[in-house]
Amino acid sequence: MSNNSIPTAEVNPLQSIELWEDDVLVRYPEAGTPPKTKEEFRNYENSAKDATVREFYRLNHKYQTYDFVQQKRAEFLQFNRKELKVWEAMEFLNTLVDESDPDTDLDQLQHLLQTGEAIREDGYPDWFVLTGFIHDMGKVLCLFGEPQWAVVGDTFPVGCKFSDKIVYPEFFKDNPDSNDPRYNTKYGVYEPNCGLKNVTMSWGHDEYLYQIVKDYLPEPALYMIRYHSFYSQHREKAYDHLMDEHDHEMFKWVDKFNPYDLYSKSPKPPVVSELRPYYEGLIKKYLPETIRL
Ligand SMILES: [Fe+2]
Ligand SMILES: [Fe+2]
Repeated sequence: MSNNSIPTAEVNPLQSIELWEDDVLVRYPEAGTPPKTKEEFRNYENSAKDATVREFYRLNHKYQTYDFVQQKRAEFLQFNRKELKVWEAMEFLNTLVDESDPDTDLDQLQHLLQTGEAIREDGYPDWFVLTGFIHDMGKVLCLFGEPQWAVVGDTFPVGCKFSDKIVYPEFFKDNPDSNDPRYNTKYGVYEPNCGLKNVTMSWGHDEYLYQIVKDYLPEPALYMIRYHSFYSQHREKAYDHLMDEHDHEMFKWVDKFNPYDLYSKSPKPPVVSELRPYYEGLIKKYLPETIRL
């Protein structure tokens, strides 16, 4: 399926890609915050915004097939679109603005700086701080015209049965793989506990950035980048049967990273010019002069 065959209305169902993350935050509120009352939750569920988020998941679950992912990998892992310095790539990402979403008061660069700064404040190693800073860089896929549901959204394995622990599991009934005997069994194309290195995930900004930086960062950083949207595993433990021992070790880091991604959003915007020299230093220490997108 090429992008041309996707109806226009199905490319960008959300006013802003941030709405997906807002939804994750409602689903997984920070520990210690009072849970939403039934009333509040019902209001949220019925809001117009939620209808667009549902539509977003419907499309994501319908179109993210094993074949679709293979096609996207073949298309984007050639990295033949742009060659930029890392900071330039972050500025390019920042051209992704959601003017139509009045609730978004921080731009992409500010979210990423806040994530990095929150990790730095807690005294973690510098590669962890850098990981916080770049973790959403793969969202540049939106700027290449990719549909929102092929850039953001919870990620999950393709090529085997979709877990009912994934958000809105009922929408998988429209995914052709649900009726394909090669892909609709517990293990599908995989072996028990084969390790995530052998598992193909749904396509989006996580896998794309992992492929860009995989030769340069320590392994825990690569796990954080690659699996940060895999909520059905890190929150629901739905895919233990595919993971190996090493994955479980590494997911301790994914779990450490996740709260910084979700809960570091404060309304006070960081001052980019003040922080830039520090982050340029980290980029220089770990990443190549230029990267190819
Ligand atoms: Fe992300
Ligand atoms: Fe993020």
